[in-house]
Amino acid sequence: MSAIYEDPGVLAEYLLFHYGTAEEILPRDIAWPQGMFQALDFAVRTTLHFSDQTAGRGLDLGCAVGRSTYEMSRSCSHVTGIDFSHAFIDTANQLREGKIVDYTRRDEGHIVTELTAKLPLGFELSKVDFLQGDAMDLPSDIGGFDRVHAANLICRLTDPVLLLNRFPNLVNAGGELVLATPCTWLEGFTAPENWPPGDTLAWLQGHLGGAFELVKRSDEPFLIRETARKFQWTRSMLTVWRRR
Ligand SMILES: C[S@@+](CC[C@H](N)C(=O)[O-])C[C@H]1O[C@@H](n2cnc3c(N)ncnc32)[C@H](O)[C@@H]1O
Repeated sequence: MSAIYEDPGVLAEYLLFHYGTAEEILPRDIAWPQGMFQALDFAVRTTLHFSDQTAGRGLDLGCAVGRSTYEMSRSCSHVTGIDFSHAFIDTANQLREGKIVDYTRRDEGHIVTELTAKLPLGFELSKVDFLQGDAMDLPSDIGGFDRVHAANLICRLTDPVLLLNRFPNLVNAGGELVLATPCTWLEGFTAPENWPPGDTLAWLQGHLGGAFELVKRSDEPFLIRETARKFQWTRSMLTVWRRR
């Protein structure tokens, strides 16, 4: 599995992505295209695709530094965030302990800006926990969940079908699964023989369609700032599934 998500520079990019303010990501003195503002707050927006009601247990797979896990806890009785990266999970736990996490935003070459990440107010911390683990090999006794969220995870897995095959046992009857994927299949993460043979949505339907009803399909853009002048602007395909 790729070690990229243990890298301190990538950790800093994700702290900015999940917890940075609009001003820290897109400073006001530049006339950024409007679409860049629309791509902010991805880790919040994906969780808004669950239905309006309150729910029981939630699971956030590939949670990174945890923002979407916290957001799910607004309407779930408890949410577990799982990520393979020790660095990401350690940082999500520090934020849970109320710590202010210092990180460095790279602007250009040796020019950097020191920033801090902290949890927004209003979360009940006892409703959230984090585990380092492998989404393709979840503990057999993890139980069932009413909501499962996996954003930008499946095309980072070495064998995504292992997770797709696990979803029917992971999501309780009537429960919801929110999957987002930019469909950026790359050999560095997934061997080509494990990529969808064609269209990613058709492949998802083929694997999930028996146990789940596809409720909704939409696109969510996201923006990851690498430097003051270089950003990843990407459109993630978001699907919502209901367990039959
Ligand atoms: C592209 S990032 C997306 C992170 C987050 N969901 C978001 O949307 O900002 C992919 C995440 O999946 C995690 N990941 C990769 N392989 C994993 C695995 N086998 N099990 C759990 N997490 C994994 C990475 O550590 C990283 O945090």
